[in-house]
Amino acid sequence: MIDLLLLIVLPYVALAVCVAGTIYRIKKNSLSYSSLSSQFLESRGLMWGSLPWHIGISVIILGHLAALVAPQPFQQMLSYYPVLMGVESVGIGLSLICLAGILILTVRRITSSKLQAVTSATDLLVLALLLLQVGLGLGIAMHHRWGALWGAGLASPYILSILTFRPDAAMVQDFPHLLKAHIVGAWLLILLIPFSRLIHIFALPIHYLSRPPINVVWNNARRKESNEETFVKEEARRHFLRGGIGVAFGVMLLSAGAFDKVFRFFFGPRLSKHQETELMEAKLERLEATTAQRKLELERQKNDYILIGTLDELSPTSGKYFIDYEMRPAIAFKGADGLPLLISAKCTHLGCTVGNEMNAEGKILCPCHISFFDVKTGEPNADSPAKAPLPHLSWVIRDKEGEIVLRRNAQGPTIGNASLPDLKEAKVYISKSEGQA
Ligand code: FES
Repeated sequence: MIDLLLLIVLPYVALAVCVAGTIYRIKKNSLSYSSLSSQFLESRGLMWGSLPWHIGISVIILGHLAALVAPQPFQQMLSYYPVLMGVESVGIGLSLICLAGILILTVRRITSSKLQAVTSATDLLVLALLLLQVGLGLGIAMHHRWGALWGAGLASPYILSILTFRPDAAMVQDFPHLLKAHIVGAWLLILLIPFSRLIHIFALPIHYLSRPPINVVWNNARRKESNEETFVKEEARRHFLRGGIGVAFGVMLLSAGAFDKVFRFFFGPRLSKHQETELMEAKLERLEATTAQRKLELERQKNDYILIGTLDELSPTSGKYFIDYEMRPAIAFKGADGLPLLISAKCTHLGCTVGNEMNAEGKILCPCHISFFDVKTGEPNADSPAKAPLPHLSWVIRDKEGEIVLRRNAQGPTIGNASLPDLKEAKVYISKSEGQA
């Protein structure tokens, strides 16, 4: 029930209020359609807070939008580990920059008496929510790694389902609490847009960087003398700002990875005895898994044939998983001719393991992003995210004396002349010598 309220009802209320409220505010008082600058009241803190905040949050929002607008290319790009590492590190670096910026802006609002006079309760609420959002984003990056990858696969479909009026929170309702809070925080901020300075996000001051400078002319005699000087300063400031943005980007990209490491070194988890025990157990499990994997690799390196099971064991509809020579998952079915049909189970989209249950159309499903593959041909459905077929694997059959009586090279012809009745107690092996399709 609470999920329904926060993940379905709240988004629609937020979007409706945001659209209607923004239009109303623009029509009613178009001059309020900005962030209501407080630079005249306090400029130093504004520069140190606003610049990092806006640079950081703009890139972070663009990243979120990219994942929303093109989730599949985004995920594909992130399926390369170095890219994923880079995006996560840059995300953490930017979040830290944002955190510094929003903290400075909040302290400035609270401590300056001039600003207190023009600060409303909504301003403070928005600042608190923004602080919370940045904190939650950092928490997610620290505790639920690779959010950029799985976020695009799970959160983007949820948001698209809301925007296309086919609400479906199934993808996110089992998310960890940190993540749900981040999503709810985002909807609350959207809800507050028409009632706060946040409305200025619809009035991006991009033209500032390219428009000709404005010369503010003072009538006051003393100030008049400094008109020219002010004009030159304004132009210089603009050049500095452009250069500063470029340099900040470069530095941020270079230092983001280092930030991540330093942060982890100083603020890594402090473990209790119980947690340490759990960690040791987990490490031991990983070591055992690695040992088991090395044994499998060695077995494949040493042998030309690896046993899958007996022919009788294979089923036409419920495949048996095994590991192929490339250490990838594969599935063994019994084909319509009563002989083995071996197919790779590593999805050709992003590498998930494909299910082993064949449906009535002779297809198996990759559940990650719903790709169906024809077991006989390996081809994916035309509308599947996967575009390449699953390859078939070579096999041999040995009779009960251990003699190879039948073999097939991937989808090639079956070689040998044993008939099915001869194959009682026969065993099926994957074959290295013949290679894979
Ligand atoms: Fe995306 Fe299989 S990994 S459909």
